[in-house]
Amino acid sequence: MFRRRQQIQYKTPEQILTMRKAGLVVAEVHQAMRESAGPGVTTAELDRIAEQVIRGCGATPSFKGYDIGNGPYPASICSSVNEQVVHAIPSEDAVLKEGDLLSVDVGAIVDGWHGDAAITIEIGEVAPELTALREATEAAMWAGIKAAATAKRLGGISSAIEQSVDASGEYGIVTGFGGHGIGTEMHQDPHILNYGRPSEGPKLRPGMALAIEPMLTLGSEDTAELADGWTIVTDDGSAAAHVEHTIALCEDGVWVLTAPDGGVEQLGDAVASAARAE
Ligand code: MF3
Ligand code: CO
Repeated sequence: MFRRRQQIQYKTPEQILTMRKAGLVVAEVHQAMRESAGPGVTTAELDRIAEQVIRGCGATPSFKGYDIGNGPYPASICSSVNEQVVHAIPSEDAVLKEGDLLSVDVGAIVDGWHGDAAITIEIGEVAPELTALREATEAAMWAGIKAAATAKRLGGISSAIEQSVDASGEYGIVTGFGGHGIGTEMHQDPHILNYGRPSEGPKLRPGMALAIEPMLTLGSEDTAELADGWTIVTDDGSAAAHVEHTIALCEDGVWVLTAPDGGVEQLGDAVASAARAE
């Protein structure tokens, strides 16, 4: 067995600045999604709003037309509800209702550079275990992002995510999907598992840009793909949550490119000076 050499694209500070622009477009879409999502709203309507915001910023939706061999993805967001984990296609038939847990994943391109991030939104009042699931997923993502500031290898991020999940409760960590490098393509090396050991994986170095995206479930870690060729659901029908940020490793810390504040509040001293300087 040969291990494929990782093709990691290291970014210059100038390139990271352009990725920040793409990240801020994604953050603006998230804000629009939080304001628009609610009972009675269709995910198709959310998709139209998202595309308007992206194009209004002079950016391009990166998901639209994205092809991994099963035909072009038809929308600008993924809108995954309840047992849908990721990559669910917006639809006029998908009417949000009170109690739903919605993950909205958004990608935007500015001057050829990508931003990719997801939020999980509660529709009206949701069951307490769904709130706990959302919070555990967010905590796991931030644990991974914080680890990126100090870890020697990529596995330090994966391991921090896994430990955070274990500390939060009894959740399944989806094994079939994970985070990824990002830059002039949405998906680049390295693949980022949401579990693992600190000693594993490539060394973390300034210039890396990574999408950190844990997916947790109330049950099984196994998933299935629906006949549409995109939608990923939990095997056992249990609810799932998914959150994601694009981060850049800078010389003096981590910059959360898709967070409005660049990660200043969550990361404290570990945040890159470029984030504090904005
Ligand atoms: N953020 C998603 C991911 O990293 C992007 C989905 S691309 C789509 O997997 F085309 F499937 F929408
Ligand atoms: Co992603």
